[in-house]
Parts: sequence; structure tokens; C-alpha cells
Amino acid sequence: MRIDILTLFPKLCEGALAESMMKRAQEKGLATLRVHNIRDWATGKHLVADDTPYGGGQGMVMKCEPIFAAVESLRTPESRVVLMTPAGRPFRQEIAAGYSQAPHLILLCGHYEGIDQRVIDHLVDEELSIGDYVLTNGAIAALVVTDAVVRLLPGVLGDEASAAEDSFSQGLLEYPHYTRPLTFREWTVPDVLLSGHHAAIAQWRRQKALEKTQKNRPDLLG
Ligand code: ADE
Repeated sequence: MRIDILTLFPKLCEGALAESMMKRAQEKGLATLRVHNIRDWATGKHLVADDTPYGGGQGMVMKCEPIFAAVESLRTPESRVVLMTPAGRPFRQEIAAGYSQAPHLILLCGHYEGIDQRVIDHLVDEELSIGDYVLTNGAIAALVVTDAVVRLLPGVLGDEASAAEDSFSQGLLEYPHYTRPLTFREWTVPDVLLSGHHAAIAQWRRQKALEKTQKNRPDLLG
């Protein structure tokens, strides 16, 4: 799949895309991840991408023209254009899974006070928020979405089972994990994990996942 991130701060994204899983996915030819500076589509002597709001008020508003030009130059009939904004639909694992089936995402990053409403009305397919807090910059949110989507592409994770066992993928948070040493300070690994009894281990893990979900995310249990 291909993901294009459109932002006024491309440098913020470049490092993240060049490391770890997102780097590997690109090296394996499983994903094409590109970052573009919206200002490259701005015109005029000063390449202005924002302006003061009609009606007055604080802050600046991102202008229509460079954003329309950028998206129109990158999109194909298969593209989904997603605006990163705290006013969007909440991002969730199911949305990541849906996006991982899409051939092309264009993640448009807001900045300043906002973006001209005509972008939302006539260019964007959906608005997406990564949580109920306000970042200074949608680029960080776009990276979160890109990472969550790319790791679900078949072949990206070494162990195919690990995405299926993720927190959320079965409606529960993940069970606890342990590795060597058996005793660290005075804390030892639960006996059941050393028992070799697969059914007992599976039952213990499910119980722990339920307890963790009850404690941290009771809303998931309905
Ligand atoms: N831009 C600023 N805050 C954001 C958020 N919470 N989600 C997505 N984009 C954002």
C-alpha cells in the first residue's frame, strides 16, 4: 500500500518513517511511505500556506489552494483522503485494520487554528482524531496512524501471530509477558508459565487479560 503524508513539517515525519518497522516495511516493498511539504504547492513570492480567519479571532487558518493542489496531484480514484484533527472520528484498531486493506491513504495534517472548511467539505473523505487532546500539529497524529496501519500489512511483522494477539484485537487488553531472568530482585515469574501446561497457561493469560481490561479499560467490557 501507499501512504502520503501532507504536512507543513515534513522533517518531523522523516525520521520516524526511516526507523524500525516503517523502514522495514518499505525495504521489503510492502509499503511506500512518502512525506510532502504542503508549502511546495503554495504559490506567490512568499509561498503562503495560511491566512487570518474571516470573521476575526485568534490564530491562522490553512488556505485551500495549496492543499487542493497537493491532494489533487497525489490522489487516484482509489485514494482515501483523511484529515488529522482533534475534531475527527476517534482512531481505533478496527479503523487501522480497515485502512490496512486500502491501496492508498493521503493523510492531511492540520496546523494552526484549523483548516479552511472547504477542504473538509469538498476534498476530505473523513476526519480522524487520535485522542481527546490537542497536539500542536497533525503530523504526529499522522505518524501514529501510519505506524498502526503499516504493522498490520501482511509480512511486516516477523511473527504473523503477534498482530492477532495484540491488545484490542480480541476485545481485551494484552496479558502480562515475562522473560529471563526467572527472579529479578525478589520478583519471580508466575509458576504457571513454567508448567508447560498449555491449557493452564492459556486460561491464566485470559484471566489476566480480563483483570487488566477491568482495571484499565472497563469500557471495553461493556
Ligand atoms: N491534530 C491536533 N490534535 C490532534 C489529534 N488529537 N488527533 C489528530 N490530529 C490532531
